[in-house]
Amino acid sequence: MAKASLVRYRCGECGSVSLSWSGKCPSCGSWGTLYEEREEKEKKTSFKPLAPAALDEVTFPERFPSGLSELDRVLGGGWVAGSVVLIGGEPGIGKSTLLLQVCSFLGEKGTDVLYISGEESAAQVALRAKRLEARGGNLRLLCHDDIDEALSVAADARFVVVDSVQALRSADVGGWPGTISQVRAVTQRCIDFAKEKNVPVVLVGHITKEGQIAGPKLMEHMVDVVLLFSGERTSSYRVLRGVKNRYGSTDEVGLFEMSERGLSPVVDPSSLYWSGVESSVSGVAMGVVLEGSRPLVAEIQCLACPTPFPYPKRTARGIETSRVQLLLAVLERRCGCFSRTHDVYVNVVGGLQVRDPAVDLPLALALVSALKDVPLRPDLCMVGEVGLAGEVRPAPRTHLRIREASRLGFCRALVSSAERDMSRVEGVEIIAVKSLREAMGVVMR
Ligand SMILES: Nc1ncnc2c1ncn2[C@@H]1O[C@H](COP(=O)(O)OP(=O)(O)OP(=O)(O)O)[C@@H](O)[C@H]1O
Ligand SMILES: [Mg+2]
Ligand SMILES: [Zn+2]
Repeated sequence: MAKASLVRYRCGECGSVSLSWSGKCPSCGSWGTLYEEREEKEKKTSFKPLAPAALDEVTFPERFPSGLSELDRVLGGGWVAGSVVLIGGEPGIGKSTLLLQVCSFLGEKGTDVLYISGEESAAQVALRAKRLEARGGNLRLLCHDDIDEALSVAADARFVVVDSVQALRSADVGGWPGTISQVRAVTQRCIDFAKEKNVPVVLVGHITKEGQIAGPKLMEHMVDVVLLFSGERTSSYRVLRGVKNRYGSTDEVGLFEMSERGLSPVVDPSSLYWSGVESSVSGVAMGVVLEGSRPLVAEIQCLACPTPFPYPKRTARGIETSRVQLLLAVLERRCGCFSRTHDVYVNVVGGLQVRDPAVDLPLALALVSALKDVPLRPDLCMVGEVGLAGEVRPAPRTHLRIREASRLGFCRALVSSAERDMSRVEGVEIIAVKSLREAMGVVMR
């Protein structure tokens, strides 16, 4: 009997299916994301009888360390057997470096590792390995761009890296590597392999200009873990962040430093974002922000400069500009601190991107300090969210933050008076305030 094949079109963004092709997805409105999907209507005749398992009897998957503590932290405790992990990042950020280091660590310990590269020649990878002083051991290298053929030689590998999904192709579907249908097919092949052999497979993914992993959003749904590797071009620091993790929290971040010898975990992350200079410059305030479960001291710098123009500038790096504008409005309406005649520039030291709302209080006071040109005490750290009414609200895990600040030598902490039970932190004088106005009164003395 001839195979009856049904052609349909699936959107790579939202996964909706339509029977005719169009340039724009009828469901989510994305352009150019529909790709052809052929469903082979050949019914399987032999299948195993289904056997539901008792929950209590299901065995847990095996976990093993990656050799890099910061990576383990983001993974939730190491690689999980049978899982598929996607690591995305901009060109040159260090994806191949990271994975080569992991492969070398595992290979040296005797694990059979296969590194499949569709982008680079064996000589290129070997050159990098030499620079990283990576030892081979049981690490094998395969430079090939057909995923099916590549996985066919991976039979006894216990750890597989595919660099990258966009560079490999599957003969089952047409099109160039990197197209939506190809990326999806390659991902599916890797998932099948991982589940069948109970081996972790790590996929490298490219990233689009908008910061999304190139290819179908569906790919992110298909895999177990999605990690994003990022960093500033000008800085040697790299941040690894979980976007999705079926085996752990996505709150954790991993911090690395890139050098000629590869990536090394950052031992004392707080020192990254805090220059530690005892300065008497106005416009500088210290906050303690949470990155995942880890507190970091963040130095917020503001500069206010008089301008003759009616529309003053507000520029911010490391914090959303809208946050700065909002706090300037709160300062004006609730505290009588005007900024309309000044350009305002804000910067977070070290290239940290702060999303934690607890940065409001240090940011607001750095703004005040800059506008009034009065320096703040350098031994004071601040934690708190600021509301539209000018009230200072408590932040999660303030204790943890203050303890970190204390470790770095801060001896005063400005927090919300609604913060409960602040008595336990030793060596740090806690100053509790209700409102931003009150906080200004305390620090501007
Ligand atoms: N000799 C060197 N000294 C210091 N750093 C280097 C050196 N060579 C390369 N690097 C760093 O390694 C980075 C490239 O790393 P890698 O090839 O792992 O990136 P990638 O994310 O895999 O890139 P791509 O997307 O192009 O595959 C460079 O951007 C640079 O930061
Ligand atoms: Mg690479
Ligand atoms: Zn869609």
